[in-house]
Formats: sequence, structure tokens, C-alpha cells
Amino acid sequence: MKLAVVGTGYVGLVTGTCFADLGNEVLCVDIDEEKINGLKRGRIPIYEPGLEELVKRNSAAGRLRFSTELPEAVRFAEIIFIAVGTPPLPSGEADLSAVRSVARTIGANLDAPDKIVINKSTVPVGTGDVVTAIIAEESGGEPPFCVVSNPEFLREGSAIGDSMEPDRVVIGTDDKYAAEKVAALYRVLTKNIVITDRLSAEMIKYTSNALLATKISFINEIANICDLVGADVEAVADAVGLDSRICRAFLNAGAGYGGSCFPKDTKALIDTAAKHGYDFQVLNAVEAVNAQQPLRLVDRLRELLDGELSGRTVALWGLSFKPNTDDMREAPSLIVIEKLLAEGARVRAYDPVAAETAAEALDELGLSIEIVDEMYAACDGADALAVITEWNQFKDADLERVKGLLSAPRLADGRNIYNPAEVAELGFTYRSMGRSALAER
Ligand SMILES: NC(=O)c1ccc[n+]([C@@H]2O[C@H](COP(=O)([O-])OP(=O)(O)OC[C@H]3O[C@@H](n4cnc5c(N)ncnc54)[C@H](O)[C@@H]3O)[C@@H](O)[C@H]2O)c1
Repeated sequence: MKLAVVGTGYVGLVTGTCFADLGNEVLCVDIDEEKINGLKRGRIPIYEPGLEELVKRNSAAGRLRFSTELPEAVRFAEIIFIAVGTPPLPSGEADLSAVRSVARTIGANLDAPDKIVINKSTVPVGTGDVVTAIIAEESGGEPPFCVVSNPEFLREGSAIGDSMEPDRVVIGTDDKYAAEKVAALYRVLTKNIVITDRLSAEMIKYTSNALLATKISFINEIANICDLVGADVEAVADAVGLDSRICRAFLNAGAGYGGSCFPKDTKALIDTAAKHGYDFQVLNAVEAVNAQQPLRLVDRLRELLDGELSGRTVALWGLSFKPNTDDMREAPSLIVIEKLLAEGARVRAYDPVAAETAAEALDELGLSIEIVDEMYAACDGADALAVITEWNQFKDADLERVKGLLSAPRLADGRNIYNPAEVAELGFTYRSMGRSALAER
């Protein structure tokens, strides 16, 4: 099939590339000229494992092309995916300006009947109606077209695998022709294709993310209580997770969730509910807990440093919001750094891939830290080490070496990646998120 994907970010670039790999002809479009020029030369703008090779292979085969010309893409494609960003406005509402602008250009350039426009961006319930109205207005109602909701569930860091082997694909439309055509595109990937109405499809995406965020904040509160009573949150989560009604996934306690989706999508769902006169109490609490969680890691550090952060140097391992990505959007590390600096600490950080994006994000916030390009160098002479992102290389770290580098062996484990008994055996004073007491047994 001939496909256009508008927005070549984490979702659009991965989606377009994967569809090209499946044999479709794909034209990826973005307003960012630098990004598109780079992609034309094989330069991948994001860190996503496996993506570079896939882009190069499909570009070389002529199935994957890049352009800044949306009108050309509208005329070229049978199906047009909208995958532009929908960042939160200060009110929490999703900013739909990019979606609206793309819809206007699509409407003004519709040249053949039965083109399908897919909302793949995460958009509030009812946005399919808004996009339909804009396209109809711009095109004058002719030729006929269909807007379908097809929310994306990929995870940064495993985006290619998630796209090629999705748990399920959701297609929201009442139009049978469009539903069948979009389903045909995905049928090679999964049998789990849910066809529903557009409003429900839009709601499914928010419900999934809100529920996952809820699991995280819930287990984080359990972890906070575990620290108070001396229990081990990992043992609790393992046993609770064996219950098939609950499942172990997303029950990892830590310094809070971040990224471009959970914080934004929970806010947008709270906002949608509020606009309909409904106070989403559970989700408000989920957000409030998450806002506190990075600060709890700072509390652990303060405890390790006898109540005083001022004048101390803290080594931070991990800056990206999660492993295997360079994405710094809403990263808990930013909150931790802001608080540490506010209390007069110095920060020396290391991240395997996010040094550049982190430097930009910190610069925007007016925060100044040292970022080093080797993990042990971050520890040299520091007063404590804090782990914020659970990259594999931190799990395999030579902690004897770390101990020798720190001014004293103090470790705040914001992702519970170490065995408390083992680090205590090595001589570390250890704090974590819900298993601190274990190091003292
Ligand atoms: N990142 C994820 O893990 C993920 C997962 C599922 C769903 N989503 C959703 O997918 C959408 C895109 O997210 P993302 O992370 O890929 O965003 P992103 O910021 O990485 O990429 C968005 C891209 O859209 C481009 N763009 C903006 N306005 C444009 C316009 N008018 N015309 C053409 N291009 C335009 C930007 O230049 C950028 O390259 C969001 O709604 C997000 O919530 C993201």
C-alpha cells in the first residue's frame, strides 16, 4: 500500500519504517527540515535500538522516503497517518495545534476519493470528529474520505519489536471499508485486531496509559510503606504479581514515571473528565504520588549524607526517563537534579546515550551540572551515588570499584537494581525505594 506518515518522531519514524519493511511504499513527512535532510542522508534523529539499520535498508530499497512536502504526501498516499506531537498545554489539556494544522493541509489537498486519515497521535476523545470537520471544511466535502482512530502503544526502547509484534491493534471507525483496509495493513503482524467505534478507540489509549501509570504510583506507595515497616517491596510485588488478575508488569517501585506519554496522557484524561464535569479522583492521586517520588530519592540521598546535601557532590547514573532511549521528556532525573542543586549539592552525571538531550533539557531549565562520558568517572570523589535510570550497564557495575572512588560508600538505588544484602556486604550504606531495611538485616 502507499502510505504517508506525518511527523517523524519516535512514533512516526518507527511506524513508517516498519510498514516499509513489510513491503509498503512509505513517504514520511515532517515540518522539521533539518530532521528530514538528516534522514535523507541516513542520520537518525533519535536513539532507538535497531532503527538505524531498518531505515537504511528500506531507504536503500526505495520503499522509505522522506519529505517536508505534506501536499505531495497527501496526493501520493491511500492512507495518511497523523503521528505529530500532542504535548500538554499548561492546563494539562493536549495541544492539538499540530494535528489541526496537518488536518487543514490534508483537507486542502485531497485529490481522490476514499483516502483514509489515521489519527495515530494520542488525542483526546472526540478528536476524530474535530479532524473530520476540519478536513471536510477545507476540502468542501468532496472527495469522500474517512478518519480512523488507530492509537499507538509502542514503548520507546523496544519500539521496533512492539510495532512488529503488537499485543493488539485498535481500529476505531464505523466505516467498514476503512476498517477492513486498515486491518489488512496490520493483519501480517497480529491476529489481535480490535475494531470498535472511534470514540472508544480514543478512550482505549488513555485508559491503557492511565492504568499503567496507576500501577506504578500504587506500587510506589506500597514501597514507601515498605520502607517505613521494614518490608521488601520486590518480594511483595513478585508474590502479588503471580496473581493472574494482577500480573507482575509495571509493579517496579522507583523514582517515578516520566517520558512523553504517561505524564501527558494522565493530565489529558483528567482534563477530558473535568470538561465533562467529572473529577477523576484516582488519577489525580496517581499524578500527585508521581510528583513526589523523585523527591523521595533525594530524601534517601539526604539521609545517606547525614541530613545535609549542601556542599556535597552526588554522582548520578542515568538521565533518560527510562533505559534504551535518549528521551528526556518529563524525566524524573530533572526533578532530582533541580532539588539537589536547590539544596546546594553539586551533581556529576553519566548516561549511556542521553548526554546530549539531557544537556539541552537542563539548559532549558537553567540547571547546571557536569555530565561525564564514563560511568565510573561520575563517581570519582563524589560523596554518594544515586541510580535514577536502570540501564543494564549499571546493574552489572563493578561496585568494588565504585566504593574505591566515592569519598564514602553510599548508594541510593532509585530503581531497586541492586541486591540490598550484597551491597551491604560490600560495605555500602544503602537506601532504595522500598527495600532499604534489607541492607541492615
Ligand atoms: N513516544 C512514544 O513512546 C509514544 C507512544 C505512543 C503514542 N505516542 C503519541 O504519538 C504522538 C507522537 O509522539 P512522538 O513521541 O513520536 O513525538 P515526537 O515529538 O518525537 O515527534 C513529533 C514529530 O512531529 C513533527 N511535527 C510537528 N508538527 C508537525 C506538522 N504540523 N507537520 C508535520 N510534522 C510535524 C515534529 O517535528 C516531530 O518530528 C504523540 O501524540 C504521542 O503521545 C507516543
